[in-house]
Amino acid sequence: MPLVPVKELLQKAEAGGYAVGAFNCNNMEIIQAIIEAAEKEKAPVIVQASQGAIKYAGLEYITALTKVAAENTFIPVGLHLDHGTSFEQTVQCIRHGFTSVMIDGSKLPLEENIALTNRVLAVARAVGVSVEAEIGKIGGTEDDITVSEWEASLTDPEEAKHFVEATGVDALAIAIGTAHGQYKGTPKLDFDRLQKIKALINIPIVLHGSSGVPDEAITRAIQLGVRKVNIDTNLREAFVAGVREVLEKDPKQIDPRKILGPAKNKMSEVIREKIRLFGSAGKA
Ligand code: G3H
Ligand code: 13P
Ligand code: ZN
Repeated sequence: MPLVPVKELLQKAEAGGYAVGAFNCNNMEIIQAIIEAAEKEKAPVIVQASQGAIKYAGLEYITALTKVAAENTFIPVGLHLDHGTSFEQTVQCIRHGFTSVMIDGSKLPLEENIALTNRVLAVARAVGVSVEAEIGKIGGTEDDITVSEWEASLTDPEEAKHFVEATGVDALAIAIGTAHGQYKGTPKLDFDRLQKIKALINIPIVLHGSSGVPDEAITRAIQLGVRKVNIDTNLREAFVAGVREVLEKDPKQIDPRKILGPAKNKMSEVIREKIRLFGSAGKA
């Protein structure tokens, strides 16, 4: 089927009390792994492209590959811009056929983040594309910050309420203790904060930096209102593990298909596990 609006996927997730997996793609094998896993689990799924992915593969390739994948499957697939950096980029993605865009104004002062998000919404609304924004700052696991800086980066529930009221945005990414990349220890999520935010806003909440978050914490976050869970790092790990395994066993292997095929299968297994964890299996 054609790419579906992410808003629809998240509304169903809200009604069903589960979360849709949003998996970062960078090449054909990752997109195939996502779709194959979602098919096996009969789950709706979101393919998303980061800044790095767009630089590496190009918007045209990512869009074309994901469109072909979606058109040749029975499961609903959405295509989303991850951490969009400018109004212009969100418009480019919309023009290419993305069904959702994130505008990440989290580094801006609150009112500037609101103004930028509203500018994107004015265009996206006109063509039925959903918009995700970010309040609080979801950093990287490599960020060297103090405890007080870390606390200050978490989402303030009242700010989140004000942001949603001032924009009418479709989904909100929040900072409750997760970070992008490989964690050094076990991340501790601020569930009280999540609960407060959920009580004040009635739109789907997005959890970033979800690779490496313990399963029980993901389950709890979904119970408390998370409806989109972003996974990238776990796919990178699976991809590299697959490549390593082949080359360690057979260092003379030179057929890319024999190296990338097993890497794809490893990613697909990880994605299937995540889909089951998020409760979206069987919801296609
Ligand atoms: O949110 C960030 C992604 O996980 C990775 O971004 O592809 O630009 O390195 P990147
Ligand atoms: P991880 O790489 O930590 O899974 O985060 C992915 C993400 O949040 C993409 O926006
Ligand atoms: Zn992210």
